[in-house]
Amino acid sequence: MIPTNFVPILSTDQTILILGATGTGKTHLGRKIHDLSPRKNGKFVSVNLATLSENLIESELFGHERGSFTGAETKRVGRLESAEGGTVLLDEIGELSLRLQTKLLDVMNHNTIVPVGSNREVKLNVRFIVATNKDLASEVKEGRFREDLFFRVQTCTLRLPSLMEDSGRAWGLAKNLLEAACVQQGKQSLRPCPSLEEFVRLQPWPGNIRQLKMACDFAVAVCSDGMITASHFPPSLQLSKETIQRSESYIFPSEFKLAKEQFERLYLEQILERCGGRINRTARTSGISKVTLIDKVRRYQINVPAIRWKNEQETKQSCN
Ligand SMILES: Nc1ncnc2c1ncn2[C@@H]1O[C@H](COP(=O)(O)OP(=O)(O)OP(=O)(O)O)[C@@H](O)[C@H]1O
Ligand SMILES: [Mg+2]
Repeated sequence: MIPTNFVPILSTDQTILILGATGTGKTHLGRKIHDLSPRKNGKFVSVNLATLSENLIESELFGHERGSFTGAETKRVGRLESAEGGTVLLDEIGELSLRLQTKLLDVMNHNTIVPVGSNREVKLNVRFIVATNKDLASEVKEGRFREDLFFRVQTCTLRLPSLMEDSGRAWGLAKNLLEAACVQQGKQSLRPCPSLEEFVRLQPWPGNIRQLKMACDFAVAVCSDGMITASHFPPSLQLSKETIQRSESYIFPSEFKLAKEQFERLYLEQILERCGGRINRTARTSGISKVTLIDKVRRYQINVPAIRWKNEQETKQSCN
């Protein structure tokens, strides 16, 4: 995953920007870069900036002095200082406010921090890795990301492709993830069935490696012995429209139960679309009772954009 011309960069203190959609492995790669660097014996501190409010980010990153704001009863060492000698991964850097971007740029340029409510400068010895799923160049154009910070972080950029762009990778990853799940769950005798490859390759995996990992963990958990097959994967993955569109000639799985589920899912997507997403009309047209229909829509997680519940309150109650 790390291009060979990038390897020499790993042993430096160069800031690295990792780009990629959700679940493509940005945090995982950040950790790997740390483990491959001379700082590997230091701490690896990962901070997700999207999960913290503006006020919290500042004291979380830079620390604060006792009494610097209401509730600051004790002095606190920030996450940057706590990673001394190691690596800091700032995840979702695109979420940082313009004010804090200025402060961060200053920290990166001078290797010092000033804790909230303090006037003392603390020397910092950390390597920065930053990650985002946003297009930072467009964020700069829109005025939401500082151009100077963009130039500071973008020199060494690694972009992680989504599994949709790089479907060939999904099977290799799946084999490793299944093997790891077997070890973790104490089921080393399980083996992936050769026909599983096509199933994995044809899935769109919108949640990328995170979704693939969850699905592999699930498959290993439900498979009791022998071969792990497509039927062990979560029902929500069984044949979606995108899956069919990606395959020139889809062959139904040999197991009847699985083939029936796949047919039901496709049929319901089509009939719901034809009925303008109206549940009552779809129930009448298909001859399926409303309760069964709602149950199947939920079970297969069918997501027809125009889906309309005539009496939403009543429907929600009947589903719960
Ligand atoms: N190359 C890989 N091999 C095995 N597992 C991986 C790999 N890359 C990622 N994973 C696993 O996939 C999951 C998602 O990875 P990660 O959290 O790094 O993604 P992310 O891009 O940082 O997601 P987010 O956008 O939500 O921050 C994690 O459980 C991680 O361990
Ligand atoms: Mg992440």
